[in-house]
Amino acid sequence: MADQTAPHETLPPLDKTQRFPLSRWLHRRGIDLERQLFLVQWGLPLVLSAIVFIDEFREHILIKREPLTTGPFMAETLFFGVVGPFAVWLVLMWIRGEWRQRERDQEQLRRTYEELARAQERLNALHQQRGELLNRILSVQEEERRRVSREIHDELGQLLTGLSLNLRHCREVVPQDLPEVHEQLARISDLVQRTMEQAHEIIVDLRPTALDDYGLEPAVREELHKRLDSLGIDVTLQVEGDLETLSADSAVAAFRIIQEAITNIIRHAHARHVAVQMKLAGDRFSVLIEDDGVGVNWARNGAVHQGVGILGMKERAAALGGEVTVEARQPRGTRVRLWVPHHPVSETPASGPVRANEPNLAVEGEPLA
Ligand SMILES: Nc1ncnc2c1ncn2[C@@H]1O[C@H](COP(=O)(O)OP(=O)(O)OP(=O)(O)O)[C@@H](O)[C@H]1O
Ligand SMILES: [Mg+2]
Repeated sequence: MADQTAPHETLPPLDKTQRFPLSRWLHRRGIDLERQLFLVQWGLPLVLSAIVFIDEFREHILIKREPLTTGPFMAETLFFGVVGPFAVWLVLMWIRGEWRQRERDQEQLRRTYEELARAQERLNALHQQRGELLNRILSVQEEERRRVSREIHDELGQLLTGLSLNLRHCREVVPQDLPEVHEQLARISDLVQRTMEQAHEIIVDLRPTALDDYGLEPAVREELHKRLDSLGIDVTLQVEGDLETLSADSAVAAFRIIQEAITNIIRHAHARHVAVQMKLAGDRFSVLIEDDGVGVNWARNGAVHQGVGILGMKERAAALGGEVTVEARQPRGTRVRLWVPHHPVSETPASGPVRANEPNLAVEGEPLA
């Protein structure tokens, strides 16, 4: 998540003179820094000049009794009483100018910071909206998958079953002395059977029935064995915590992420062992999927080339306020980590019974060595 500190909070206070007691005192009496500097710029040279004039006057006129126009009096008085204070005035004028410029710069900086803070607030709001939208899209997608799966099951399934029964009836009533017709009917029967099997696979793929009927752990176990056993990949599943309290959204997200991780292992890893750990502890639900395959071909900057698969995993986790990371596993292979915040649900989750009727700690095999 982006750093949400408002930038203007880090801006130093504009008026640093507040730390001088006299300045603070004057400020409290309505004389701001601009006026304070003005007073100093005019007051200091005047006071200096006055001191010099009074002193010179006292020394030359009153004590030495020299005429006003004598050289030493004029030279010293003009130098220390006029040129000197004027130089001080000029320096203070320059300081005032610099100060004013600094104040303008700071004001500009403050406005920029405020604009930045507003932009950041808008960005945060958009980020939140995006998360909510993503969440909505994912749940609509799951709902749609369920609907399509139901339609295929109820409509197409019924039709195929009817077709199959009719074919069987035909094969019974067609006379045995028509072998060609029987052969043709057998072929059609075979095709219908294969279509039914494929429809069933599509139904299960769209909405894993094990997830609905038995819960996350059995569904993941079935998925792992169904897809990896036939490839000779050794599978380990370790579960810790009461997954029954997991929300339906988290269970579906975890299942889909594990599914994609398995697909990646099959497609890219050439692994011999796969270990999956699911752990529900405190306010976190975490999943670890490790393989001992060839490992990700990391790009030069250390980032993984992201296809739709890893991106989808990350978006799913982010939609629930969690995270997915893909990292190298030592000595070889890949490790996918998922975590999502856990808020226990007291009632049956909305998207189905997604509950595991297994003991709290179920370990099948050993973790990946
Ligand atoms: N378990 C793994 N072992 C080795 N490489 C992996 C593994 N998982 C991912 N990768 C690498 O990471 C890349 C990105 O994976 P990702 O799932 O995002 O895309 P993909 O599998 O190539 O395509 P798709 O968008 O269809 O999923 C893969 O192309 C692959 O090179
Ligand atoms: Mg993939």
